[in-house]
Amino acid sequence: MPVIELDHVSHAFAEGVGSRLVVDDVTLTLTEQRIGVIGANGSGKSTFARMLNALVIPTTGKVRVDGLDTASEARAVRRRVGFCFTDPDAQIVMPTVAEDIAFGLRRRRLAPAEVAARVDAALGSYGLDAHRDHPAHLLSGGQKQLLALASVLVTEPDLVVMDEPTTLLDLANTERIRTVVRGLAQQVVLVTHDLDLVDDFDRVIVFHEGRLAFDGSPGTAVAHYRALVR
Ligand SMILES: Nc1ncnc2c1ncn2[C@@H]1O[C@H](COP(=O)(O)OP(=O)(O)OP(=O)(O)O)[C@@H](O)[C@H]1O
Ligand SMILES: [Mg+2]
Repeated sequence: MPVIELDHVSHAFAEGVGSRLVVDDVTLTLTEQRIGVIGANGSGKSTFARMLNALVIPTTGKVRVDGLDTASEARAVRRRVGFCFTDPDAQIVMPTVAEDIAFGLRRRRLAPAEVAARVDAALGSYGLDAHRDHPAHLLSGGQKQLLALASVLVTEPDLVVMDEPTTLLDLANTERIRTVVRGLAQQVVLVTHDLDLVDDFDRVIVFHEGRLAFDGSPGTAVAHYRALVR
């Protein structure tokens, strides 16, 4: 598993004439396979998640993935870290399902037959076989979420970061995502308000007002989060 290291990481967004601290002095080493991130709205979870693939560079401190500094080696970090956004529409870039999956491979200098083989495998793994040539934007919400995940996973990242992958989904599609996440060989960092989704994870961290409020097993982390709300 990749090693994710945060060393006194803070992040402030510019606001008016000043700035607002949204991640506040987080120091953390993550080596487990499945890591959940929970906490209230605005507590800094998405900002933290975005730091892991260099979408957000911390104002102070260092984020390293497998020793690569996100500030100075962003490109190498992005090759290793796949990111799934909450809204899969934001991630669909090509007209058809198969083309969208192939898009992620465009810079890999693979032979066309290799691209086709990987796309076929991804379609099969995520139940999208029958939709290969369908317009991607006409898929259902759950299918789009699976497509977004397939498009990321086809690039074979070492770490998959998912920001609320089930927020838009019904019960059946939430279960599909849960099953897919359970079956992934890769390291996963998953941000969610669906506390059941992380109940079998190896480690769950709780954000509260930009700080790391708790770090432990799913059961104790959820209990801590509930206590914060009360
Ligand atoms: N690009 C940005 N510019 C300015 N402020 C931002 C930006 N992105 C996030 N913020 C602010 O940072 C704080 C933390 O936001 P973040 O999206 O990390 O929270 P979150 O824990 O993911 O919340 P939610 O559960 O609602 O998704 C919020 O107050 C938000 O308004
Ligand atoms: Mg968020």
